[in-house]
Amino acid sequence: MQVNTIPPVDLVRQYESINKEIDNAILKVVRSGHYIGGSVVKDFEQQLSQYIGTSQCLTCNSGTDALYLALKALNIGFDDEVITTPFSFIATAETISLVGAKPVFADIERDTFNLDLENIEKTISPRTKAIIVVHLFGQPVNMTRLMEIANKHNLYVIEDCAQATGAKWEKKVVGSIGHVGCFSFFPTKNLGACGDGGAITTNDSRVAQTIRIIKEHGSMQRYHHDVVGINSRLDTIQAGILQVKLSYLDTWNEQRRKIADYYDKLLNSVSMIKLPKEIMGGYHVWNQYTVLVENKINNKKYNRDILKKGLEDQGIISMVYYPIPIHLQKVYVNLGYKEMSFPITEKVSHEVLSLPIFPGMLPQEQEQVANAIKASFNT
Ligand SMILES: Cc1ncc(COP(=O)(O)O)c(C=O)c1O
Repeated sequence: MQVNTIPPVDLVRQYESINKEIDNAILKVVRSGHYIGGSVVKDFEQQLSQYIGTSQCLTCNSGTDALYLALKALNIGFDDEVITTPFSFIATAETISLVGAKPVFADIERDTFNLDLENIEKTISPRTKAIIVVHLFGQPVNMTRLMEIANKHNLYVIEDCAQATGAKWEKKVVGSIGHVGCFSFFPTKNLGACGDGGAITTNDSRVAQTIRIIKEHGSMQRYHHDVVGINSRLDTIQAGILQVKLSYLDTWNEQRRKIADYYDKLLNSVSMIKLPKEIMGGYHVWNQYTVLVENKINNKKYNRDILKKGLEDQGIISMVYYPIPIHLQKVYVNLGYKEMSFPITEKVSHEVLSLPIFPGMLPQEQEQVANAIKASFNT
C-alpha cells in the first residue's frame, strides 16, 4: 500500500489555493518597476495596523529585526536587563544581546509553554527595563496579568507575536496590548511571506517615529544621518503577497483551530501523550500543535525521540521546537545558568513534539497521523 508523506507544513498547497491572486500581486509589482517601498508597502502597513488594532505599523526585514528595532526604539542598551523566556526561538534573546542589554530568563508553564508570569517578579532588578513575552506556538499570554506586573514595576512590554498573528487575549489581538508588538512573516508563520519579512505595531507615535528613523539608516531626510541605523525593509513584492494573504488570515486561523480540535478528539485516548490546551480567555491560533511525550526515567520504549522516529518511518514528519533551551545554548554560557536552572523548560525540551498542522490539512491526513502515533506506541 502506498503511504502518503505528511510534511509539517505544506506551503505549496496554500499557494495553490490562492495562486491567481498571488501571481497577480507579484506581477503587479514586477511590472511597476517599483521594488522598494512605495504605496504597496504603505497600504499593507495600514491594513495590518487596522487588523491588529494599533495606530502605528512599520514593516521591516524580519521578525528578528522587529525585535531589535523595538528594543532600540525603547532606548534599551548597555547596563539594562530584559526578562524573557528561555523556551523560544533564539531571536527573542539574541536581539536583547545585540542591543547590548542582558537577557534574564524565568521558567515557563508546562501547560501553555509560555512564561510563568508568577516567576517574573522574582527576577526584576533595578536594571530591568522590559519584558519580552512570546505567544509561543500561537497561544496568547495572559496579558491582563502581565500588564499588571509591568505597570507596577514601570517596565515596557514587548510582545513577540512571531508565531501568533491573529491570536487574541480577551478579544484583543496580540501585538496591540503591550507597548510594542513584533511580527515575523517567515513563510511558515500564520501570516507568511514568500521570503523574509517582519513588522512592528504600537500606539506610541514617538516609538514609531524612532523605529522609522533607525530602520532607514538613522535618516529622516535622504543623505542626512542623525543616529546610527540599519537597512531593514519589507520588499514591495512581499508586501503585495502579504496583502493578499492577510485577507485569508482569519479563515486560515479558524481552519487551524478546527484541525487542533480534531487532533484533540483523535488523540484523547492516547495516555502516553499530553495534549495542548487553549488558555481560558485566549484565542489560540495554533502555529504549532505541540504534544508532550512523558519522558519516563528508564523507559527506553516510549519517549519523544522514539515517537518522532516511529512517525518518520510511517511518512510523517514531526518537529522538535525547541530541543535546547536558550539558557543552555553555548552562546549564553557566560550568563551563568546551569542545568536545572529552569526545570520545567528543560523537562519540556525533552518531551515536546509538534505534529503536522497547516491550513488545508485534510481530516484523513490527521487520522493518518493519529493512527501512526498509536501504532508507534504499540510496537
Ligand atoms: C518566537 C519567534 N521570535 C522571533 C522570530 C524571528 O523571526 P524571523 O525568522 O522573521 O527573523 C521567530 C522566527 O522563527 C520566532 O519564532
